[in-house]
Amino acid sequence: MQGVQGTYNDKVVRQFAVMTVVWGIVGMTVGVLIAAQLYWPALNFDLPWLSYGRLRPLHTNAVIFAFGGSALFATSLHVVQRTCHVRLLSDKLAAFVFWGWQAVILAAAITLPLGLTQGKEYAELEWPIDILIAVVWVSYAVLFFGTIAKRKVKHIYVANWFYGSFIIAVALLHIVNNISIPVGLAKSYPVYSGAVDAMVQWWYGHNAVGFFLTAGFLGMMYYFVPKQAGRPVYSYRLSIVHFWALIAVYMWAGPHHLHYTALPDWAQSLGMVFSLILLAPSWGGALNGIMTLSGVWHKLRTDPILKFLIVAISFYMIATFEGPMMSIKTVNSLSHYTDWTVGHVHAGALGWVAMISVGSIYALLPKLLGREQMYSVKLIDTHFWMHTLGVVFYIASMWIAGVMQGLMWRATNDDGTLTYSFVESLNATYPYYLIRLGGGLLVLAGMGLMAWNTWKTFAQARDNVPQAILPPDISEARA
Ligand code: HEM
Ligand code: HEM
Repeated sequence: MQGVQGTYNDKVVRQFAVMTVVWGIVGMTVGVLIAAQLYWPALNFDLPWLSYGRLRPLHTNAVIFAFGGSALFATSLHVVQRTCHVRLLSDKLAAFVFWGWQAVILAAAITLPLGLTQGKEYAELEWPIDILIAVVWVSYAVLFFGTIAKRKVKHIYVANWFYGSFIIAVALLHIVNNISIPVGLAKSYPVYSGAVDAMVQWWYGHNAVGFFLTAGFLGMMYYFVPKQAGRPVYSYRLSIVHFWALIAVYMWAGPHHLHYTALPDWAQSLGMVFSLILLAPSWGGALNGIMTLSGVWHKLRTDPILKFLIVAISFYMIATFEGPMMSIKTVNSLSHYTDWTVGHVHAGALGWVAMISVGSIYALLPKLLGREQMYSVKLIDTHFWMHTLGVVFYIASMWIAGVMQGLMWRATNDDGTLTYSFVESLNATYPYYLIRLGGGLLVLAGMGLMAWNTWKTFAQARDNVPQAILPPDISEARA
């Protein structure tokens, strides 16, 4: 489905693809810095804007909304054009979405280190920025659905269903969770209070995971895995069941973030049950992605992009097995507040979200420049191994640290007093923080390789360097 020059709007896709790499490096650099601060607290240099409490939300916002968001914008706007055989609804609107989103990111990068925050996790940005987000997001929705409306083919390919649900759900979540009363340009209070506020926040928080960090990336999976493997989706019927099951179940699972709180007990149990049910559609969909390789498994040996995509799905399976287990109240009483949660988050975030994004951008970028492949396939392979190893160091160290912390905090002596003080558990955690830092550095260095590879690919396209002759095993894998 290679587009005729000028038929499609590739400019906005290219812009978002490049910004995926840029924001990935920025967000992960902040991640590495806060990982280092947890080991060497003095790294905040006694400056308020370098303090952990301000940099942590900068990290989460940068990696989720700037890095993950750019990857989602780039791929969705590419996929919707290629599968609908039509150019985007409007080039001007596309440019507005790109620049509007960059403005949101810039505003976040300034206000968060200044300590301006609503204090709601993943929804920290203050009301003027929230309004800008809503305007950009609605424009994105008009652009995406408007393009679908003028499509030249009757069928709407399943990847678009996932992207579409992500766009609608994020609009709904963002607007409902951010309704607040401003008391100044940089301060507001939410209209909800107490347990209701907590419930709305975690309805938002969990579905941000379900729709921002999952549904959109499943759209990527359904387009780029078959494309890279050169095979149709394993079961199209399963992909439809996967879609509706995921949509139906995700919205109810939020209360698993509020176990043992003032939230009514029945709501906590409801969240737990729906989280357990969620295992089925998550694994069904993941297997559909992996089984797409049936008959062409050998391509994994030679194609590092396919490795990124398939290992991403494997991490998705790890995270979506672990999540339902952690939602069981008795398990959660051990895992909550510990680094186990942080390990789970990064199995999803670094394993699933980052790897599927990186793989998809490697597949997409050269095509946008009219080239067969990136500047160096070898470098993609090196990146793959650095990233995979880095993620393993990260999540394995956090799992061990988390379970250890949970067990130390609940250990009691015969007379009922606590066996360990909090500081003792912190001391025991330090070596694992160092291992996590090492993992993070490996991942970040891998992103550096990606930036270099991207730069060289653009340079080759600009200078019209003849395409490299692919070694036979790789050309065969691409056939
Ligand atoms: C080099 C890579 C990365 C490093 C070193 C890193 C490091 C960290 C650290 C140190 C924390 C704070 C943990 C704590 O407070 O105890 C954190 C939190 C978080 N990170 Fe990352 N991170 C990286 C990449 C990512 C990516 C790519 C994503 C998302 C796509 C992500 C999403 C998150 C989220 C959602 C949290 C909050 C977790 C929670 O509240 O439980 N991180 N990260
Ligand atoms: C079947 C799917 C999943 C279920 C049932 C699930 C369940 C859970 C549970 C029980 C927690 C711990 C809540 C707590 O003790 O505070 C959690 C935390 C979290 N999960 Fe998952 N998870 C799933 C998949 C994922 C995936 C795929 C990702 C990322 C891409 C992810 C990202 C997160 C984040 C960011 C948090 C931390 C929230 C916070 O406290 O800031 N989860 N999840």
